[in-house]
Order: sequence, then C-alpha cells, then structure tokens
Amino acid sequence: MTEASSAVTMDKIVSLCKRRGFVFPGSEIYGGLANAWDYGPMGVELKRNVKEAWWREVVRTRDDVVGLDAAIMMNPSVWEASGHLAGFTDPLVECKECKHRFRSDHVESDKCPDCGGQLGESRQFNLMLKTFLGAVEDTASTVFMRPETAQGMFVNFLNILTSTRKKLPFGIAQIGKSFRNEITPGNFIFRTREFEQMEMEFFVKPPEHLQPGERTDDEWHEYWVNTRFEWYISHGIRRENLRLRPHESAELAHYAKATTDIEYLFPWGWGEMEGIANRTDFDLKKHSEHSGTKLTYFDEQSPAEDKHITPYVIEPAVGVDRLALMFLLDAYTEEEVGGDSAGAGKGETRVVLKFHPSMAPVQVALLPLSRNEKLTPLAREVYASLIATGRWNVEYDDAQSIGRRYRRFDEVGTPFCVTVDFDSLDDNQVTIRDRDTLVQERVAIADLAQILGERLG
Ligand code: GAP
Repeated sequence: MTEASSAVTMDKIVSLCKRRGFVFPGSEIYGGLANAWDYGPMGVELKRNVKEAWWREVVRTRDDVVGLDAAIMMNPSVWEASGHLAGFTDPLVECKECKHRFRSDHVESDKCPDCGGQLGESRQFNLMLKTFLGAVEDTASTVFMRPETAQGMFVNFLNILTSTRKKLPFGIAQIGKSFRNEITPGNFIFRTREFEQMEMEFFVKPPEHLQPGERTDDEWHEYWVNTRFEWYISHGIRRENLRLRPHESAELAHYAKATTDIEYLFPWGWGEMEGIANRTDFDLKKHSEHSGTKLTYFDEQSPAEDKHITPYVIEPAVGVDRLALMFLLDAYTEEEVGGDSAGAGKGETRVVLKFHPSMAPVQVALLPLSRNEKLTPLAREVYASLIATGRWNVEYDDAQSIGRRYRRFDEVGTPFCVTVDFDSLDDNQVTIRDRDTLVQERVAIADLAQILGERLG
C-alpha cells in the first residue's frame, strides 16, 4: 500500500460529505438556502463525538467546571450590557453595480471582486439576528438570537454560585446554537449563519485578590491555551497542521485583554478554530451595572480591603461545525492499494477517513460475507452482542459485495470491520480488518468485544 496524493480539497470533502451522509445542502429540494447545511446520519455522529470529547475533557473529568444550558433568546438588555448591540459589527461595503455585499476587511481594492464595479463607502453592520416574540411585530417585542453562548453563563453566575457553592477558580461550560448574520459566510461549514458553539467561562481571581502561590489570570490564560491545544493532538490532529496565534492589540474584541487563537491549516490557508480570551471582569461588571444585581463573590481570605470580588474570566470558545470540518479534512487520505482487503482492484485508489477512534461516526461494522440464510443468524448474534456492550456505534451491513462495503466503511472512517464467513459457523471465529493497515486477523467471537475494547478505547 502506498500513499497517493492525500491532497485534500474542499470539493472532495463536500462531495464525500454528500455521498456518504455527513452533510447535505439545507432545504435542497427547494433549491437550498444560502450557506445552510443539514447534518446526515454520519455527520450527526461526528458532531456528537466532537461534543462528547469536549464535554468529557472540559466538564466531566474536572471538579472545577459545571455545565449550563441557557435559553437562546434572552432579555434584550443582556445585549445592551454586553456591548453587542453597539459593537458587534463588521465593516460592510456594497458594490454600486451588482449590489453584492462584502466585508471591507476581506476585499483588497475598491473594486467589486464579483463584477469589477465600484464599491461604495464602508459602514458598520450589526451581526445579530432579530425576531419578534408574541403577536405584535414591533420594537417592544424584538428579541435577538444569541450571537454567542457566553452571555447565558454570565447572567447565571450567581445562580451557579449559590446552587453549587463552587469556590474560585471555577468554570461554567455550555454547548449550543449561536446565530450571526455573517456578511460573507462560506467555505462549507466553516462560516455559517447558524452554528453550534462550545464555550467555557473560567472565573479566576483578579490580581489584587490573589494570595501567595495562586495562579494569576495571565497564568490561567496560558494554562487554558496549552490545555486546549493538547486536546486537538490527543484526538489525532496532526501537530504540523495546528498553530497558536496571539491577537494583535488592534484586533482584540471589545471585551478582551488578550486572546490566542488555535488555528488549523485549511486548504485555503490558516483559519481560526478556537479563541482563548482573557475577558477580564468586563462582562460581570457590565451586567452588574445594567441589571442592578451585584455579580460578585465574597472571599474572606482576600488580601484586598473590599473582599467582594468581581472575577476575571478566561474563555476557551470553539465552534462544533468548524471542528467537524477540521476532523474531516485532517482524516482525509487517498491511497493506492490493491487486493480484496482494500475493497479496490490493483493500482486503484481508496479514499479513507483516518479518524481518531473517538471521532469515528461508526466504530465497528459487522459484515456477513454475503447475505446468506446460513450466515445471517450468527452475524446478527455477534452484532447484538457488540451493541449490548453500549460502548460503540456498530453498523450491520449485508448489502452489496464485501469489497464495496469495505470501501463505504473506509470512506466514513470506520476503524474496524468484522466479517462473519462460512468458516465462522464451524470455528466460532470472525475476521477483524484494520482500516489503516488493512491487516486481517482471525479472532474468537468470545474475545471479540475485549479485543475491540483494547483497540478502540
Ligand atoms: N464568546 C466568544 C466568541 O464567540 P468568537 O471567536 O466570535 O468568540 C468562537 O467565536 C468560535 O466560534 C470561533 O473560533 C469559531 O470556531 C466559532 N464560530 C464563530 N463564528 C462562526 C460562524 N459564523 N460559523 C461557524 N463557526 C463560528
């Protein structure tokens, strides 16, 4: 087996996603809706895996982070306090000829990239999506679709504090949909108007309240940058495709003292995956001012005179859809192979998604050699025994030739195919085929779950 060009392109990914049920164009039978995408059976599993891996690392395996699921639509005062109503804007220019709109910081001259016409003056465009609650559509009933999940965590700061009795430092994590009326969405699921975020607000002591030996906000920032970076590596992303990029002061968001992005090398160049920001006490202070509710923490041990603390916040924030795209791109491989185990003839190319097992939408495929009444009962029995462990997503498939089925499971990144053949009826053994090495190994059915467990984790 030799590695052929693994040069992945967006066209190849978009086409594989459609063909194998990862991502479909939204509302396709009506001609679609600009930059709306629907996740199919494989895409849903991939996204679930992304979210579970994040939640496991950021919430479940730590005793200093708890979860929240806040409402998407919030009191409009939230957005006034957070600065989003006034400041969550992108600079927009419109072509005087074709009327197409662009982000001014994305165009290189005053000529339209689409028709060459003259671009107009740049103006600020608010990215928040609006809707109306109740029977009357007027300003009094206007609400916004949240552009980030973060604010739900700030406004629930006291609720979490009193219900969990957490001590500083501690974090609140949330996964959910966010909405932005992006001027130029694009690059498939990289930038869309409806997307899912995973954010965590980690509340720490500001400098004047620190006791000797306690980490500063800058040190916590560095800690979360490194911790999050290692998460990508431990889930199989190639180190050479990742980099850290600290923001220049001019590009910092209105709330941030410092931000470092984790970037991935996409086919079009480096792009932001995740931002880890030091939001200082900006949000809690603003919400205290606007709501009249003091969002503080009392620390008797504080060396400061006033022992009421408005914590600083370190925020790792990442998009689920963007992560799904990164995992797809990084896993995509084309190999020149031949022979039965590859599911391809000699000299042919196989496409395989070499997902880390934790990301694979289907971890095990159970394949009777053919659809045969003698094989089916045993194959179904083995399948049922694997399902019963509750550990993996296992798919049963007896349609088409075994070669075609191997191809299909390679293309959705299934680490192991288990084949039941006529010998299995006599020797109670099955064959495990390894997606990456193509090695086929005979194992006893009685040992199968244990062996898969060792390899899949
Ligand atoms: N609370 C901070 C915040 O929202 P952000 O950098 O604007 O920061 C965080 O967004 C992450 O959310 C981004 O790094 C990206 O992964 C994802 N994201 C932002 N806008 C997106 C969009 N239009 N489409 C898909 N993902 C997006």
